[in-house]
Amino acid sequence: MDHGQHFDREMRETNWHRFWQRQLERREQIVAWLDTLGVGPGDRFLDVGSGPGLASLLAAERVGRRGRVVALDRNPEALELLRHQARRRKLDWIETITADAAAMPFLSGAFTHAMLTLVLHHLVDPMPVMKEIRRVLAAGGRLLAADYRPDGDLSVGPPAEARVSARQAAGWMRAAGFSVLEQGLTPPHWFYVLGAAGEGLGTAGERAAEGAGYGAGAGAG
Ligand SMILES: C[S@@+](CC[C@H](N)C(=O)[O-])C[C@H]1O[C@@H](n2cnc3c(N)ncnc32)[C@H](O)[C@@H]1O
Repeated sequence: MDHGQHFDREMRETNWHRFWQRQLERREQIVAWLDTLGVGPGDRFLDVGSGPGLASLLAAERVGRRGRVVALDRNPEALELLRHQARRRKLDWIETITADAAAMPFLSGAFTHAMLTLVLHHLVDPMPVMKEIRRVLAAGGRLLAADYRPDGDLSVGPPAEARVSARQAAGWMRAAGFSVLEQGLTPPHWFYVLGAAGEGLGTAGERAAEGAGYGAGAGAG
């Protein structure tokens, strides 16, 4: 993803065919994230802000027909591209949903695994999205969030002011009711944080996070 001088937070000007090529170039990292998340046969996987959805396609191969894969994005054009790729690969059990990640049309506890990759830097307010992901995951379900490192190569990806750190991402996850299991780097540009959904929303954690400057609106910086 090469935003150049102009950062298109809403992605209204995105060429999704070109973005799909970029996802293919990142295939190795996406596979590593699915491995870290531990997606396997029968799992119920949610790809939040999937774009053209390479992660969903790879997850569908892992979970099989007895599992569930849902790709959610607010951009219908990206999901159309995903449906095309799913048909080509005969992965016809992938569901696509056009919706905002802060208000997802799923029952609570519907999923066992969720991914939120390269989405945080597009969110003005990450907490509603984190809480919504916690809601739709079953207790013990896992979330992998990954994004561009603030200390990484600024010639690739979003500008410094849009980037969030692993520490911020982990703070939002804790505040939403996740325990952080693991975090680390995914070369060459990214960090990841793996969390497990606790029993309830972390109201105490939320107060702590707000105190630490992780509250609403901190996502832009
Ligand atoms: C940079 S792309 C990342 C796509 C994919 N997750 C990946 O790792 O390649 C960010 C995606 O998040 C979606 N997105 C951003 N904010 C969203 C929101 N509030 N609700 C749903 N989708 C959102 C965008 O439409 C876009 O497809």
